[in-house]
Amino acid sequence: MSGTDIPHQSRRQLRLGAFLMGSGHHIAAWRHPDSPSIAGLDFQHFAQAAQAAEAAKFDLVFLSDSISVRSPDDPATHLAERSARLEPITLLSALAAVTERIGLVGTASAVYNEPFNVARRFASLDRLSSGRAGWNMVTSTNLFDPPNFGQPASLDHAQRYAHAAEFTDVVTGLWNSWDDGALRYDKQTGVLFDAEGLHPLHHRGDRFQVRGPLNVPPSPQTRPVLVQAGASDAGRETAARYAEVVFSAHQDFSEAQAFYRDVKSRLARYGRSPDELLVLPGVSPFVGRSEAEAQEKFEQLQSLITPEVGLALLRPLFGGVDLSAYPLDGPLPELPPTHQSKSRQHLLVELARREQLTIRQLYLRVAGARGHWQLVGTPSRIADELEQYFRDGAADGYNIMAPVLPGGLNDFIESVVPELQRRGLFRTEYETSTLRGNLGLGTVRRPGRHSSTQAAVPSAVR
Ligand SMILES: Cc1cc2nc3c(=O)[nH]c(=O)nc-3n(C[C@H](O)[C@H](O)[C@H](O)COP(=O)(O)O)c2cc1C
Repeated sequence: MSGTDIPHQSRRQLRLGAFLMGSGHHIAAWRHPDSPSIAGLDFQHFAQAAQAAEAAKFDLVFLSDSISVRSPDDPATHLAERSARLEPITLLSALAAVTERIGLVGTASAVYNEPFNVARRFASLDRLSSGRAGWNMVTSTNLFDPPNFGQPASLDHAQRYAHAAEFTDVVTGLWNSWDDGALRYDKQTGVLFDAEGLHPLHHRGDRFQVRGPLNVPPSPQTRPVLVQAGASDAGRETAARYAEVVFSAHQDFSEAQAFYRDVKSRLARYGRSPDELLVLPGVSPFVGRSEAEAQEKFEQLQSLITPEVGLALLRPLFGGVDLSAYPLDGPLPELPPTHQSKSRQHLLVELARREQLTIRQLYLRVAGARGHWQLVGTPSRIADELEQYFRDGAADGYNIMAPVLPGGLNDFIESVVPELQRRGLFRTEYETSTLRGNLGLGTVRRPGRHSSTQAAVPSAVR
């Protein structure tokens, strides 16, 4: 069945992603006594986690990406598990073969790729998985990325978003190359596909010249779901213009609600309605049978963080500023504006100021989930919080960032998912066979063919 002609759920339900990350999202997860070694490079580890998430009816698995090792000279490099990782589309393609229904969302940079390659790889994953692919479009802030691509320095924040906007125009334009039904394989008449159903892109922009068409026809969900992560003003505008899912990071309810309202309010500018974009904040749950057990799990991981790793964790979040010259138990100093992630720096500075955290307390606070929301408690308390954000306009669902894998994801699946189902907040069976269908995103709009892919774009994005 096509993912676009779906029976809609009568009641709004929340969406769940399983964000898989090596031995877990907590920075010290790999040191946990129960962690499998080299989890981040082990296919069976990912396969079992994806299958467990699928059995629990999660909407999707999500893979982030980074395209550089921070620096071989940096002492923290060899302490961080993320220095060694697999390329997401390759891994998702293998996961497609061992799963049937769960969505497969992977991150790819809109700065250090050619749009034709990205369009083709995700369209191929989408066909291989019968309509379960999604592209998480990121603008790559890492200072160590440019030298891997022959570039001396990163583009600045505004330029990166301008680049990403044109890049995304090309990718989505290429995904629109084929009319539905153009592929005929008619043995009788010898017509393989209708020539008039295939449309070159003829894109000529400031940064890319791409003729097209794409040589991969549409999948059962028409095209991959477009996910975006980036939360500054330009990031939000990009989400409102292109994204169908936005992955976000928040520390508390009012921040999450303000983000939700703001990004949804921007959609009208692009002729879109609020339900055409789902907001999924990241959340890292530490689940215990009692509050004390949950707290114990949390403390055990926290105790494995060394100051060296804690400071190294903060550095990229603060635009490369090294805080090791400042007292660990003193306040956060004034920081210069960053060209890396403006939104993440803002989030952390606000948190430190609001709660008067020392540098050590700040890194301990973000080590669990890199600035994402952490929940420590019993299944029903965690379900209460997830329900509140969902009902009160702060989230459409969550990207679950298990602190340790597979244990943390299994805890969530075994105890929180049934609680959400009991409350009628989460499905007990998949509604459709495609990611787009299960997310309830409806039919892909097929705009008029490509006379121009340089639509008017507000200045925040250009
Ligand atoms: C929740 C979230 C997840 C992100 N995941 C990735 C990632 O996996 N890889 C990556 O290179 N950048 C990632 N980014 C970085 C963004 O694409 C962007 O470059 C960065 O956030 C700076 O933009 P901003 O100031 O608009 O947030 C992520 C950003 C956010 C907010």
